[in-house]
Amino acid sequence: MDIRAVAIADLDALFAYLGDQLDENGRNGMPLFQPMSRAVTGVPDAMRARFTAGLATKLGEPGWRRAWIAVDAGGAIAGHVDLRGRADPESAHRAILGMGVHRDHRRAGLGARLVEAAVAWARETPPLAWIDLDVLSANHAARALYARTGFVQTGEIEDLYRIDGESHGSVMMSRRL
Ligand SMILES: CC(C)(COP(=O)(O)OP(=O)(O)OC[C@H]1O[C@@H](n2cnc3c(N)ncnc32)[C@H](O)[C@@H]1OP(=O)(O)O)[C@@H](O)C(=O)NCCC(=O)NCCS
Repeated sequence: MDIRAVAIADLDALFAYLGDQLDENGRNGMPLFQPMSRAVTGVPDAMRARFTAGLATKLGEPGWRRAWIAVDAGGAIAGHVDLRGRADPESAHRAILGMGVHRDHRRAGLGARLVEAAVAWARETPPLAWIDLDVLSANHAARALYARTGFVQTGEIEDLYRIDGESHGSVMMSRRL
């Protein structure tokens, strides 16, 4: 499976893939993996706008983002990973990771490959020195993937979110590059 950087021309396909993934959030046996109500369907406009603007933003400028996709033999998106900057300019040496793998391609090592692709890029990209992420406490698949790829848990906030009448904790993890 080929992993390559997302270009502006990929965005329609990427949002269709992300929308399909968000429709699984807390459904069909999946844990809640985005801190959003199950009532949200498709990619919210604000998320699309942040993603689109972030890709066009120079590294280090507020809101910057870079993303990679895995593309299957038929050209469909099988997984994604993205890195974005923190709001605080004093934290320009840290990026925040987000990711997902299409349901048809899980447990085949693609998630781990996507993490390593983002890490490889970040290692070559000064001043980045750390990757951080937040993961909902009940998302055990993602927590296991991150632990296997070298992320260390730095904290957990219980009851951070109240979503659809449920309480959800959130775990913070970091990997030094
Ligand atoms: C979490 C997710 C990205 C994992 O992707 P994946 O391609 O299936 O992961 P990999 O095949 O690379 O798995 C690597 C390791 O992670 C762990 N892991 C992955 N899925 C797991 C699961 N369902 N249960 C337990 N461990 C799991 C295992 O240690 C696995 O190694 P193994 O298969 O040799 O046991 C995928 O389940 C997903 O897209 N989930 C929905 C979106 C999401 O949670 N995104 C992250 C939000 S923070």
